[in-house]
Formats: sequence, C-alpha cells, structure tokens
Amino acid sequence: MDEYVKIIVEGKTYEFPIILGSEGEKAIDISKLRQMTGLITMDPGFVNTGSCISNITYMDGEKGILRYRGVPIEQLAENSTFVETASLLINGILPAKNELNRFSVLLNDNSLVHEDMQIFYQNFPRGAHPMSILSSMVNALRSFYPALQTVEEEINITVTRLLSKVRTMAAMSYKISKGHKVVYPRPDLSYAANFLNMMFDTPVKPYKIEEDLVKALNVFWILHADHEQSCSTSAVRIVGSARVNLYAAISSGIAALSGPLHGGANQAVIEMLTHIIENSIKVEQVIQRAKNKKDPFKLMGFGHRVYKSYDPRAKIMKKYCDKLFEKFNFHDPLLDLAKELEEAALKDDYFIEHHLYPNIDFYSGIVLRAIGIPTNMFTVIFAIGRMPGWIAQWKESADDPNWKLNRPRQIYMGQPKTDYVPIEER
Ligand code: SDX
Repeated sequence: MDEYVKIIVEGKTYEFPIILGSEGEKAIDISKLRQMTGLITMDPGFVNTGSCISNITYMDGEKGILRYRGVPIEQLAENSTFVETASLLINGILPAKNELNRFSVLLNDNSLVHEDMQIFYQNFPRGAHPMSILSSMVNALRSFYPALQTVEEEINITVTRLLSKVRTMAAMSYKISKGHKVVYPRPDLSYAANFLNMMFDTPVKPYKIEEDLVKALNVFWILHADHEQSCSTSAVRIVGSARVNLYAAISSGIAALSGPLHGGANQAVIEMLTHIIENSIKVEQVIQRAKNKKDPFKLMGFGHRVYKSYDPRAKIMKKYCDKLFEKFNFHDPLLDLAKELEEAALKDDYFIEHHLYPNIDFYSGIVLRAIGIPTNMFTVIFAIGRMPGWIAQWKESADDPNWKLNRPRQIYMGQPKTDYVPIEER
C-alpha cells in the first residue's frame, strides 16, 4: 500500500505521498504542496530537503556507508583505479576490459590543452589561488571547444575532455606558478602517473614514478569521486538546470568546492595543524576553542552534514597514511598531531553529543603532503577526484525528461509597500 502523510491547513486535510528509496530512505513528495495548499516549506541549508532522486551514490550517515552505483568504496579503494571508478560512476556499471581500454585511450587522446591557454595562465598573478585559476580555465574550455552538432556526441567528447584536461590544467597551473617549463602528458603513463609526472618532472631531475604513490593518489581520487548532493554537486545541478554548457556547470562546482567549509577544508586542516605546532598550542586548548561558541574557530576536518559517525573515507585515508609512512619511512609531525587531536576529540562530550568525527579532509591533506603536493593545490586535487561525480550527477539531471530549472521560493520579511521619495525630500 502506498504510504502518505496528512497535513491539515486551516482545517482542511491534504495528503502527500511518501517516496521510498531502494535502501529504505523516505521522503515526503511536496511537489504539489503550493499548488494544493498555497504553502511552501522553509529549510535553511536544505538540511531536511532532498533535491532529486538519484541512482549514483548511496550514503548512510549513521552507519558510515558509502557506495558508488552500489559498489562499496572500501572494495573500490582496494581493487579499482580512478579511471575505472570514473567509468562506473558516469556509465552506471563497471566497464569490461575492452571498454576500460577504450576509455583510457580516449582520455589520453584528449589530455592536451590548447597552447593558447598557456597565455591565460601566464597572465594570472603569481599568487593566484589554483582553485580560482582552475574554475576560470574550465569555463574557458568552452571558448576553445565549441559545441558539436549532435548532443550525444557533444556530451561524450566533453566528458572525456573534462576528465582528461582537468588533470593537465592543474599541473600546468602549478608549473607556471613556479615559473617552470610545462610538462606534457605522456601516452605511456596511467592517468595518475601522468599527473604526478606533469607536476614533478623537470629537465634537471626526471621524476621517478613510485607505484605506491600512484596507488595512494588513485585511492585519494576514488574516495573523492562522488558524494551525492554535496554543496558543489548541488551547484553543478542548479547551474546546469539553466541549460548552460557542461564546462560552465562544472566551473560553478569548482568554485563551490573551494570554500573552507567544503573542499577547501583539506588545505585548512594542514594550515590549522601547522599553526598549532608553530605556536606550541596544547591539544586541550584546541579542543576548548572548538567547543567555545564565542570563538569562530572550528576543528577543521571534523564534522559533516551527513556523517554522524566516522566518515568511512577518513578511515581508509588514515590507513593509507600509515601504509605510505611505513613504506617510505616518512615522519610528519602533522600526522602525529592529527592522531592526538582525533583521540582527544573522540573522548570529549561536546564532540560525542554533536556527533563530530573526522571527515575525509582530516587525513587527506597528510597523504597529499606525503606525495609531495603543495598545500595550495590540495583542493585542486580534490576537484580532479570529484570530476566524475559532478559529470555523472549533471548527466543524471540532463537525462531526466522532466529536467526543471532549479528556482527555490522564499518568504519575504522586508518592508511593506513604500513609495519612492525624491532625493530633495530625503
Ligand atoms: C566536505 O557534503 C559533503 O558531502 C561534503 C564532502 C564531500 O565529499 O563533498 O564530504 C566534503 O566538505 C567535508 C566537510 C569539510 N569541512 C570541514 O571539515 C570544516 C569543519 N566542519 C564544519 O564546518 C561542519 O561540520 C560542516 C560544515 C562540515 C557541517 O556542518 P553542518 O552540518 O552545517 O552543521 P553545523 O555547522 O550546524 O554544526 C552543528 C553543530 C554546531 O554546534 P551547535 O550550534 O549546534 O551547538 O556542531 C558544531 C557547530 O558549532 N560543529 C563544530 C564543528 N562542526 C560542527 N564544532 C567544532 N568544530 C567543528 N568542526
């Protein structure tokens, strides 16, 4: 029997159906609420509001579950590569061997960036943040690659271009910011190895590809590949709903991700840990500051809108930290401090009552430091990882026959009707 809820408005009873998800989640379908009752709902931050029905990613915030197209991330992190996971997210199923090979060839064929784009990079101020450069350059791709004739062909080639070129563009911004010669992608290297080579190869010191670092980067990108309706994914869907080109929609996602409450947190965690060490601040003092309502300080890398238990990605990231550090005999005081902070916070009543646990950003920056990525590039690395998720979510919107322009309502609390007063009389 179909479930529904009853709402009584001014003595009249209205029924609204319940939508039941494949994992048992439930939502009230209020798509006819205003038409039937004249009322709208109010939900700042959309804490209780679903924006869409999706088949892509399933998260259970209480149980700490994350699956891409049904496949648990723990299995993907262990057995898959970022390119294979990207194909799973975008196409909905794990690719057969020949399909994966063809996808890899297409990515390689589209890895170069138009030479004229280098002029853009050279004209950004040297201190420009790589995320603002990336957002601008992804938007600029449209100017270099105008729409093809058929929509289907256009989408497929644009998807491949975005996935492949975002990696090249990220490495280019790093090289040019250092005044170094740009390194071109190589057809003989895998997606992640190519990125590391483009970042760190130099004419004086050829970059030595370390398979363990390539694996750690693949795991990093797999863990970041999608996360259902996050702030940046919602930006991609909202901007995309106006029927802008995919580059523009993705560019808005990159801009949203750069915020310190969102993807910028991985950089903010490292800056926080560094500040604590450089100023010899005690762990207990940090915990007290995080709890103090009068203090705007938050323990970066802790807390999550959905996870009210340990972020499953953080668990895997922490494990990779330990594995990498052991393998290369790395020592990083930031990792030791992060573990001390986690131990203190998880024992503290405030963090327990607020269900605040480490999220992916708490350890991810330490893995990137171990790989040699500069801190101001951390969120760019996150953006490369999230690219398949944004694309898959955009495609799901675009494939919806009822794809509506996203345009929320509001409740007005401003002035009543007020007549214009000529300036002489003010
Ligand atoms: C990402 O959406 C996604 O999926 C995002 C992401 C993805 O993959 O796309 O997972 C990536 O963005 C991870 C989150 C990275 N951000 C940070 O680590 C920044 C620090 N975290 C907080 O800013 C916060 O936890 C948020 C923004 C992540 C979530 O906050 P919510 O859900 O809006 O909850 P809230 O801010 O209303 O906090 C609820 C309570 C508040 O206390 P009360 O006023 O209720 O007493 O918890 C407190 C907050 O003050 N709180 C924290 C805290 N996070 C929340 N207190 C101290 N330190 C923190 N980190």
